[in-house]
Amino acid sequence: MARRVSSRKRPARDDFLLKERNKIESEVFDRAALLALAKIMQKGVIERVEYPISTGKEANVFLATSKGGESAAVKIYKIETTHFLRRKEYLEGDPRFKKFRGRERDLVFAFAQKEFKNLQVCERAGVHAPKPLFFQKNIVVMEFLGREGKAFPTLIEAGPAEGDLESILLDVKRAYQAGLVHADLSEYNILVHEGAPYLIDWGQGVALGHKKAQEYLERDVGNILKYFASFGLEKDPKAILAWIRDGMPTSSPEAAPRKG
Ligand SMILES: Nc1ncnc2c1ncn2[C@@H]1O[C@H](COP(=O)(O)OP(=O)(O)O)[C@@H](O)[C@H]1O
Ligand SMILES: [Mg+2]
Repeated sequence: MARRVSSRKRPARDDFLLKERNKIESEVFDRAALLALAKIMQKGVIERVEYPISTGKEANVFLATSKGGESAAVKIYKIETTHFLRRKEYLEGDPRFKKFRGRERDLVFAFAQKEFKNLQVCERAGVHAPKPLFFQKNIVVMEFLGREGKAFPTLIEAGPAEGDLESILLDVKRAYQAGLVHADLSEYNILVHEGAPYLIDWGQGVALGHKKAQEYLERDVGNILKYFASFGLEKDPKAILAWIRDGMPTSSPEAAPRKG
């Protein structure tokens, strides 16, 4: 009797778990993301998606493997499914909103494309950043920065090591000299390991033509200097900004005023 009850209950529980799983998966991989992923796999960029590395407010990042067995990071920008669907309900069939339909999606696609293009600029400029591999709709595929399936820690998690500050500022200068400002730089968007720190999360990076580019640069530099100052490494923001804006990248901020 007891057995029969439990065996009758189990399918219900399985059903519940399956529903929960589907719910999670459909929140992470919406229709657009699944289609884009299929395309990326078709192109042979990656063979399979392994597991999530990070789930954030704006994006989820997954570890993926290529046919050759190499790792890649797959960043999927969120198309706010619930928000979008809720709004869509009011839009469908209303001719006034024809232009509005799909707009949010396009915005997210533009973000992914921007991150990819910014990573290309970084690659050309020699900035330590993930190498861009592919983008499709709301997905950016890039070099995986980590080891044995584990992403390198962020600067905030690992704390600074010697030379980190100089390396980061030089990368900010390289990007700037290549016409790009990160615009969301902080100890949270830097991954560190034994070598040089890597600047990640370039989706909001702006070209120097943006009217707020200089303001963003000042904020980026301010964030970094503030973080390192809390470890006793103080630098004058004005001098650093002048060095970043002035001429070709030199080996370190200290080297800037010297000649030869
Ligand atoms: N190329 C990458 N290689 C390894 N891990 C990454 C990579 N890109 C992102 N991550 C992981 O995902 C986290 C979030 O990535 P990020 O680009 O900052 O997205 P967001 O802050 O918008 O969620 C990072 O802190 C890191 O742990
Ligand atoms: Mg981030």
